[in-house]
Amino acid sequence: MLYDTNPTLEGVKTIDEAKQGSVFFKEFPAMGNTPGLKHFYIESYGCQMNFSDSEIVASILGDIGYAPTRIMEESDLILVNTCSIREKAEETVRKRLKVFELIKRERPGVKVGVLGCMAERLKKKWLEEEKLVDLVVGPDAYRDLPNLIGGAEEGGRMVNVLLSREETYADISPVRLDSNGVTAFISIMRGCDNMCSFCVVPFTRGRERSREPFSVVAEAQDLFDKGYREVTLLGQNVDSYKWENPESGEKADFADLLDMTARIHPDLRVRFSTSHPKDMTDKVLHTMAAHENICKYIHLPVQSGNSRILDLMNRTYDRDWYMDRMRSIWNILPDAAVSSDIITGFCTETEEEHQDTLSIMEFSKYSMSYMFAYSERPGTLAARKFADDIPEDVKKRRLNEVIRLQNTLSLQHNQKDIGKTFKVLIERDSSRSDKDFCGRNSQNKMCVFPKKEGLKPGEYVLVQIKDATSATLLGEVVG
Ligand code: SAH
Ligand code: SF4
Ligand code: F3S
Repeated sequence: MLYDTNPTLEGVKTIDEAKQGSVFFKEFPAMGNTPGLKHFYIESYGCQMNFSDSEIVASILGDIGYAPTRIMEESDLILVNTCSIREKAEETVRKRLKVFELIKRERPGVKVGVLGCMAERLKKKWLEEEKLVDLVVGPDAYRDLPNLIGGAEEGGRMVNVLLSREETYADISPVRLDSNGVTAFISIMRGCDNMCSFCVVPFTRGRERSREPFSVVAEAQDLFDKGYREVTLLGQNVDSYKWENPESGEKADFADLLDMTARIHPDLRVRFSTSHPKDMTDKVLHTMAAHENICKYIHLPVQSGNSRILDLMNRTYDRDWYMDRMRSIWNILPDAAVSSDIITGFCTETEEEHQDTLSIMEFSKYSMSYMFAYSERPGTLAARKFADDIPEDVKKRRLNEVIRLQNTLSLQHNQKDIGKTFKVLIERDSSRSDKDFCGRNSQNKMCVFPKKEGLKPGEYVLVQIKDATSATLLGEVVG
């Protein structure tokens, strides 16, 4: 998953400066301005599910004659798909709004819309606080965009933040926005029914609901037919995916969905994220083992290695349970890589409890982790029940210790791969040199290797690893 793709916008004053800070400009495909059409510009923040939602939004807007553009100044509608997961994520969006304000000052006809989790969290407050915002649209209300945009075009200030128990956008074919034409994301469920005490997602995304499996398989098949070679199935907790046909009683769980997707074609790789330690079953692990094309990589966020803290976090597993899940992975999938999310300095965390996080990282030998200092979110269980009592400098120091350990673990993990040969799906030119390609192996490690005549993105190659850093494997095509 992608977290906080923060462009650095400190001190940005002009539009040109702003453009340089925007990830969006780097990632958006070359799309010209099409005469006669209206244009929208969209920036996305937060997790991969938000990026996936922006592709649904693009599809809905396409139906009312709006084409995507990457030229902010030429757009008629500026949208920002926001994230509330940590305070910093929200600060980034507020800085972007300052930039949009500059554009609106030049061209008052431009409409600005806030979408996603921050829209949901702050609801109508946006219209009171930010005079430039014309639209506030929550994650379950994107079907209402044509109506809301119509209202905004007539000068209204429009809000729809209703959450739904049913909406999955299953019938909407996403417009792939920042695509390399090789890898794509498919949302298989929405919302979250867990109540991790630190987390804002259940409030911003609503109740968990699973998408009908045949629509997921159809979307994956369509991607494969268009030349894509990898799909990542997305959900906040994919292991609780659950579907039942109300008429026939036919059922599918996540392992079944994985199996169906993997059967589309042996050349279509299947990945997924995120797994929840309390729900990840051996059935899923056996399904992974049964299909070569289901990637041997599991993102299994631990959050903390201490059972008392896990209890306060309401994660509903303890240290022993997590270690047992790790042992199951090693037994059933000896080649698998596992990554994690970690929070430091959660309410009342002691030094010894922090040490438990370091030791579970060593036990689990994560290939990679996303690591965060605890950020209190208004309205969450933790904000209501516990004092955010760990001083910022202590949270940061613990975070640095976690990061330092993870760097060592990642390097060790990667060094063990030197000499091995992996099947790699070529994704694109390496960001360092256009003489090299890059692509990932089954374990989700980025491999960089010199190009060879005739090879192109979307093809599989065997790469022998010659060297490694903590972030990348370096190799050569063999065979
Ligand atoms: N559904 C996923 C997590 C989604 S949020 C899961 O349950 O694992 C992504 C990550 O952000 C979380 O795993 C957690 O590590 C981090 N996170 C969430 N809320 C946070 C907060 N209030 N402060 C710091 N990090 C947080
Ligand atoms: Fe948040 Fe927990 Fe749900 Fe993940 S499982 S989205 S951390 S509430
Ligand atoms: Fe952020 Fe919402 Fe995703 S809060 S992490 S964009 S679900």
